[in-house]
Amino acid sequence: MMVSHPTSLLTGVLALLSPLTAHSFVIPPSENLQAFVGQAQTLNPSLESASIENEGFSRPSWFTSTLMARRLLALSPSGVISTTFPDSVPPSAHAPSDVAGISIGLREYIADCDGSLPSDLSHDDNGDPTILGLRIGTTFKNIAAGSNLSLQIDWWDHINEAGSVYPGLPPSLAALPRVTLFGYLDNLPSPLPDDAAAALEQCFLEPHPDAKVWLPGASYSPHASFWARLVVTHAYWIGGFGDVQQIGWINLTEWQGIRPHGSVAGVGDGRGWQDVRLPGEKP
Ligand SMILES: *[C@@H]1O[C@H](CO)[C@@H](O)[C@H](O)[C@H]1NC(C)=O
Ligand SMILES: *[C@@H]1O[C@H](CO)[C@@H](O)[C@H](O)[C@H]1NC(C)=O
Repeated sequence: MMVSHPTSLLTGVLALLSPLTAHSFVIPPSENLQAFVGQAQTLNPSLESASIENEGFSRPSWFTSTLMARRLLALSPSGVISTTFPDSVPPSAHAPSDVAGISIGLREYIADCDGSLPSDLSHDDNGDPTILGLRIGTTFKNIAAGSNLSLQIDWWDHINEAGSVYPGLPPSLAALPRVTLFGYLDNLPSPLPDDAAAALEQCFLEPHPDAKVWLPGASYSPHASFWARLVVTHAYWIGGFGDVQQIGWINLTEWQGIRPHGSVAGVGDGRGWQDVRLPGEKP
């Protein structure tokens, strides 16, 4: 194993192993670390499964994890959108010139409202989040200038309800799920037909009653806004600690095929995102 950054390696190993220390083994003295890491790479699967079986739990399947990811989207009122400043920042951006090409993550309002759109406009409730964009916002200026984007949503606000989700560890944010969605912004027609606008507003204002003031077309709105959706092209899931949760790229056919109750033909096992719970939710 190549060890170019001993400190980050140590941190990584501790992050990987410390949840198990209470049950299975102690962290070795650091001079033995490299040997131990080599050993852990081969032994970890069996150590993990032994430990997990003793505790009576196991990793959810990837399909169950994808249901959890769709539930996370459905329950999340906001997420951090990362965009990149253009290679040459125009003076009108009022930004330092040396942020050119650097990414910026900003929290934005989102909602899982695609399924409320009339069928000719919707993507059939396929997990493409609805976004209320503000033309003046840095996120949307960068996108208008050609930036790609990703949207990160997480369950970290729920640490108090979730409590300890890992035996032997105190409540841990790192054990709670998060998902990052990659894709591009698809602006919805402007103006929307009345029925579509009404349906979208009803869905979006439920988590965001304050956004009524800057809805597209709102009179006296302080800022011009528009409806858009993030067309998801990739989804990266971190369910929590890797020995009890999945971490990796979600199968997009499954992400797109999941519905609240059940899923489209050819996907899954009959469950929808309403059939799973995130840490701390009532059964
Ligand atoms: C956006 O991503 C696509 C690939 O998905 C890439 O071809 C394109 O160059 C990217 N655009 C920018 C501005 O980086
Ligand atoms: C993704 O999921 C679909 C539906 O379950 C399946 O047919 C397909 O083989 C999966 N793709 C990969 C790369 O696993």
